[in-house]
Amino acid sequence: LVAGVDSSTQSCKVVVRDAETGALVRSGSASHPDGTEVHPDAWWDAFTVAAAAAGGLGADSGVAAIAVGGQQHGMVLLDADGEVLRPALLWNDTRSGESAAALVDELGAAAWAEAVGSVPVASLTVTKLRWVADHEPDLVGRIAAVALPHDWLTWRIAGYGPRSQGLEPDLGALTTDRSDASGTGYWGLDAYRRDLLARGLRVDEATAERIVLPRVVGPGEAAGTTQGSETVPAGIVLGAGAGDNAGAALGLGMSAGDVAISIGTSGVVSAVADRPSADASGLVNGFADATGRYLLLGVTLNASRVLDAARSILGVDHVGLSKLALGAPAGADGLVLVPYLEGERTPNRPDATGSFHGLRLANATPEHVARASVEGMLCGLADGLDALVAQGAEVGRLLLIGGGARSEAVRQLAPSVFGRPVEVPPPGEYVADGAARQAAWALAGAAEPPVWTGGDGGPTLTFDGEPTPVVREQYAAVRDLG
Ligand code: XUL
Repeated sequence: LVAGVDSSTQSCKVVVRDAETGALVRSGSASHPDGTEVHPDAWWDAFTVAAAAAGGLGADSGVAAIAVGGQQHGMVLLDADGEVLRPALLWNDTRSGESAAALVDELGAAAWAEAVGSVPVASLTVTKLRWVADHEPDLVGRIAAVALPHDWLTWRIAGYGPRSQGLEPDLGALTTDRSDASGTGYWGLDAYRRDLLARGLRVDEATAERIVLPRVVGPGEAAGTTQGSETVPAGIVLGAGAGDNAGAALGLGMSAGDVAISIGTSGVVSAVADRPSADASGLVNGFADATGRYLLLGVTLNASRVLDAARSILGVDHVGLSKLALGAPAGADGLVLVPYLEGERTPNRPDATGSFHGLRLANATPEHVARASVEGMLCGLADGLDALVAQGAEVGRLLLIGGGARSEAVRQLAPSVFGRPVEVPPPGEYVADGAARQAAWALAGAAEPPVWTGGDGGPTLTFDGEPTPVVREQYAAVRDLG
């Protein structure tokens, strides 16, 4: 058996699968405080609860390998004793928006895209380091290692940790993988760019050289074996792990031509590609995937939370929101929601706010507000899809995943907004599944990830729909006013 872990912004999920067939054996989950700034201990605590709920990972559990997929970009700063120096600043924390702008001004957008595949936005780790350098400069001299959420949790599962908790703080044992390293802003898609780490932290290169960065483990390679702890026994093989989007791509078995649109806390449009991308416009992040290829990503900060906000305005549940939205015509008679409720990343407008446009007496109904909310959220994602296509992504299958994909209104309206048929795979823990597949890959020591037959979900639903251009046209007319 193998275990895959998804340490996300809100919770931890653990799946235990058969290493040969991929059949789901057990699973468990636990939530932890969310927000934009969280102490990593919350991830460990949620992992131990989720692992117990999944039947435990102890010596008698039959689990021989574990890998962790995690929310990307979060900045975990450790001192020489392995102590966390401050709560982690997460991908959805926009306080480093000005730091991102300053870094782009210093080198130029094209140079960043060329160097690391992405133009820095507030989500990227390097911008958070710059924020610390400018706002908490006393911390800089104490930084002995910088890790990401999946790196840190893998290290803790391996049995390392802060000295104050009686653990061995071996910073040299920190590992990461290509996919997560590629979201830092200081990994050049084949090696760390210490010059960019130094730039982020406003230190000289010799100082940056002394900071431990997790060893980048190749796809399918083992990151090591566990030392043994209360939760995980000694001798368990650790997979490299991955950033959650690359983990989901592996869990979904995506190949070139598949595009996934995930409606979760973040809205993510992603495509696997054979070549790296360098979008100087900054709309597309050119990350690595978990298989040795690349992952083109467009990320919005406003996805399922837009639906939550609409529900709270209208005082209805998910089913009620869907019913209302499907009760108004396409385009909501001119009512448009620009959904930048949390600021936005695609386009890069960290200080933007959301707004309704075109409100008239004729469209001031709950149905129109619901329709405009679903359409506005989908239009934000459609902008991301356009940006990927502009970078050369092929769109064969369009897969709609994430919690938001359960909404009937989202499913019905997505083909008309995206202008293509949409497939909705059975709901699953794709990130944890991808991590489990990676664990099985590391365990087998094979050249390619195992081919799993799957089959524990239901049928894939396909929605055909006529494109309704008016929705995107209305949206494009007011998007920049939002
Ligand atoms: C990707 C990103 C988000 C997080 C969510 O660039 O910021 O998708 O990975 O966990």
